[in-house]
Amino acid sequence: MPVAKLSIRRGGVAEEPHRDVFEIGFEPGESVLDALRRLRATQDATLAFRYACINANACKECMMLLDGKVIYACTARLEPREMRLDPLANKPLLRDLATQIAPPDERLE
Ligand code: FES
Repeated sequence: MPVAKLSIRRGGVAEEPHRDVFEIGFEPGESVLDALRRLRATQDATLAFRYACINANACKECMMLLDGKVIYACTARLEPREMRLDPLANKPLLRDLATQIAPPDERLE
């Protein structure tokens, strides 16, 4: 089984950022989002990221940076190498890979 090494930027707004590296085996065709969901279920329940439609490429909530490029985690495929994940750089950070994506006038008070 191939193994991806996910290097994930961790921390919240008021915290010093750091990276955690997780090794995760995968079936060919599995997505980065599949791996993140499995990591949260089995290794680190505090890992924060967003998604809603899982793989319909409809909600756009799973956008993040993979090796510095914007991707949808639900359509980006896992590869047997180190994959560096960061939150979107142009959105306010919430925690880990989760950013505030709703425009200010659409947020609940
Ligand atoms: S989870 Fe909805 S577009 Fe990726």
